[in-house]
Formats: sequence, C-alpha cells, structure tokens
Amino acid sequence: MQRALTFVCLWLSVWTYVQAGGAPPHRQPDSPQPAHPPAMASDALADMPLWAYGITTLPQPGDTAEPQGWGRQFNPAIDHDEQLKPALHVAGSSRTYAPIDLRDWANAVDWFPDEHSPMPDVVQHGSAALGERRRACAFCHRVNGGGRPENAPVAGLPVEYFLRQLEDFRSGRRHSTDPRKPNVPTMIAIAQAISPAEALAAAEYYAKQSGAPRIRIIESDRAPPIQLHGNLFVATSNERTELLTDRIAELLDGDHEQFNDNPHVGYMAYVPRGSIERGRVLAAAGSPAQSCTACHGADLRGLALGPPLAGRSPSYLVRQLYDFKTGARDGSQAPLMKPIASRLSTEQMTDIAAYIASLP
Ligand code: HEC
Ligand code: HEC
Repeated sequence: MQRALTFVCLWLSVWTYVQAGGAPPHRQPDSPQPAHPPAMASDALADMPLWAYGITTLPQPGDTAEPQGWGRQFNPAIDHDEQLKPALHVAGSSRTYAPIDLRDWANAVDWFPDEHSPMPDVVQHGSAALGERRRACAFCHRVNGGGRPENAPVAGLPVEYFLRQLEDFRSGRRHSTDPRKPNVPTMIAIAQAISPAEALAAAEYYAKQSGAPRIRIIESDRAPPIQLHGNLFVATSNERTELLTDRIAELLDGDHEQFNDNPHVGYMAYVPRGSIERGRVLAAAGSPAQSCTACHGADLRGLALGPPLAGRSPSYLVRQLYDFKTGARDGSQAPLMKPIASRLSTEQMTDIAAYIASLP
C-alpha cells in the first residue's frame, strides 16, 4: 500500500504538473489569457461547492488563473531519457507509448483506434491556428469523450449544443465562477482559435462517442480520505474512514500506476447516503426547481432543448449548476437554466447530481 501511494503521488505530480500548467525550465510564456470578469465578493459565494471546482478556498476579487503549458512537457523531476522510452502498455492494446507521449498537449495518445471513428485532426492534435501551442481536445476530454471531473464529459452531446458552447466560450459568455481554474481560460482560448470546420468536425466526432466506461456511483456515509492534486482529487488510502455528508468524492476508478490514460478506465464517485433518492424526487417533482425532465427528457438523456445529463460526472454537473446560479455561465440559452439553478441550494445540487450521475 505504502508503495502504491508513493507512486500515486509521483504519477499525479506528473499529471497535475501538466494539467496545472507546471513550468519546465525551458518553458516560454503562454499566449495571453483571455480576460474574464473578476470573482464575485466571497461572501456572495459562501455556499460555493468548492469540491466541485477542485479547490479548497473561496476565490477573491482579482484572482486569475496560471496559464497552462503546451507542447511536450518533460518533467524535470524524472530522468529525461526515461521519459522517452516506449515502455507503457495497457491491457488489450498492441500499442506502446513513452511517458512523454502522455504529456504531449498536441498529440493525444490513442490506445484503441479500432474503438472509435477516425479522430479529426483537431481532436487528436488541436486547432491548427494555434501552431505549436495547439492543444488536442482529446488531451483533456479524452479520445472517447468521457472527460475528467475537472473538465467536461463531451461524448454524445448534440452537435448544435456543442457548437453553442464553443460560441459562448468564444464570446466571453461562459467562464468559471472560480477565475483560478486554469483549464477554463485554456478552453476559452481554444474556442477563440478554432475554425468553424474544426468545430464541426470535433462536434460530430464527439456526438458519436460513448464516453465509456460509465461512472460507478457508491452511496455511502463514509469515503476514503482524499487529497487535491491540481484540480483533481485522489484517495490517500482505500479505507473508508471519512464522513461523507455534504459533498461528492469523484476519483479515478482504477490503479493510477497502471492508468496511462487508458480509455477503458473511467471514474467513480462516492455520494452521500440518501442523496440519490432525494435527488430523484427533486429532479422529477420539480420542487423547488422546475422539473428537469421537462427540458432534459424523461430519462434525462436529452431533448432538442436541453442537453443529455444522465451518467455524466457529478462534479461537472454541480459546477455547471452553480455557474448558472452565479452567472458565470451566461450564454444564449442560460436564461432557461439560471432561474432553476438559482432556486437550488448547494445541498440540493449535490443530491440532484448524485441521482443524475447514477442514471444509465
Ligand atoms: C485544457 C483542457 C481542455 C482542452 C485541451 C479542451 N477543452 Fe473543452 N473544456 C475544458 C474545460 C475545463 C471545460 C469546461 C469545464 C467547466 O465549465 O467547468 C470544457 C468544456 C467544453 C465544452 C462544453 C461541454 C458542455 O457539456 O457544455 C465543449 C463543447 C468543449 N469543451 C469542446 C472542446 C473542443 C472542441 C476542444 C478541442 C478543440 C476542447 N474542448 C479542448 C477543457 C479543455
Ligand atoms: C426550461 C427548460 C429547462 C429545465 C426545466 C431544466 N433545464 Fe437544464 N438546461 C436547459 C438548457 C436549454 C440548457 C443548455 C444551456 C446552454 O446552452 O448554456 C441546460 C443545461 C443544463 C446543464 C449543463 C449541461 C452541460 O453539458 O454543461 C445542467 C447540468 C442542467 N441543465 C441541469 C438541469 C437540472 C438539474 C434541472 C432540474 C433541476 C434542469 N436542468 C432543468 C434547459 C432546462
């Protein structure tokens, strides 16, 4: 166990180092980050679900994000040549990658090319207009579109909804309630650079993906102790020793040591005891919010109006609900969601997300 945990920390330091935009010695300044409104006064955010943002303290006015990296991010803590050795495998794949391949923003690793339609260039390598600073959609949203709790599951989204989000990011109508969250300004910069043809290719590709495997939900009044690495949580032990009452603990559903961004490995979430049933009642009865099913479909798998919600990351769902409430998400269709999200308490958002994430 001790060894496994040490490795988890090492692996995570590598991953979060990349995701958080850690600066290797040779790194040059990134492209300017887009401007976004300052954080709201922290008393207005007293009910902010910090866990859903992968943070521990409230944002303050004037806070900004550290720019993220680009290109191949060598980790100075690990021997350079070791990072170039094609020594990584995952079960069932005949491909081999080197550790540096997992930290290459412009080339998403593709363990199982037969399991998806051909990846458009923008998904595998990023938007051409960004040149050497291009970032592959699949680097963050994964090849199968399952995403990670810190970004967004994009598999199965209707093309029209997907394109509208890119437009909202581009026009400054969608950002994050936490201005320090580094990947949202990156997403905004991507939306500003992407061509219409690339956007359509990415939307059509991800609309066809399944995002598999589905998230595993465990309802429990205790969860393992967890710790933040970048904006992602990891368990520091397998024992469920911590009380779980008012939050969700979303974690990788597998061994970090063997992960290697294997698309067959997904996420799991511990949700508070009773939250799924409370969330079901809230989503269906519509009180105090309007029934979610009215716009998102009886099974919450989406209608023309509202995007699919079922089985998506509960951290992501809560973050979006809160972003509608604060107005950080203020796109053309946000007025349909804002009054609903505004009437939900953070506890109710958590319950609804536990329920929705548990749906097939
Ligand atoms: C740095 C990692 C990163 C990269 C690379 C990236 N995204 Fe994103 N993406 C994000 C984050 C973060 C969000 C929003 C999360 C939030 O609001 O909490 C997001 C959200 C989205 C959404 C909205 C999903 C929804 O359900 O509303 C779309 C669509 C999207 N991205 C498309 C793309 C496309 C297309 C590319 C490639 C051209 C791309 N992204 C590359 C991080 C990334
Ligand atoms: C009146 C119609 C309507 C109702 C009722 C409604 N929604 Fe929505 N919802 C929408 C629309 C439209 C969008 C897309 C907004 C946009 O494009 O920014 C959306 C987006 C969302 C998103 C963001 C999805 C993503 O991929 O980022 C979440 C989460 C969400 N709704 C949850 C809920 C929940 C939970 C309820 C019930 C409490 C609910 N909605 C009720 C219309 C509705």
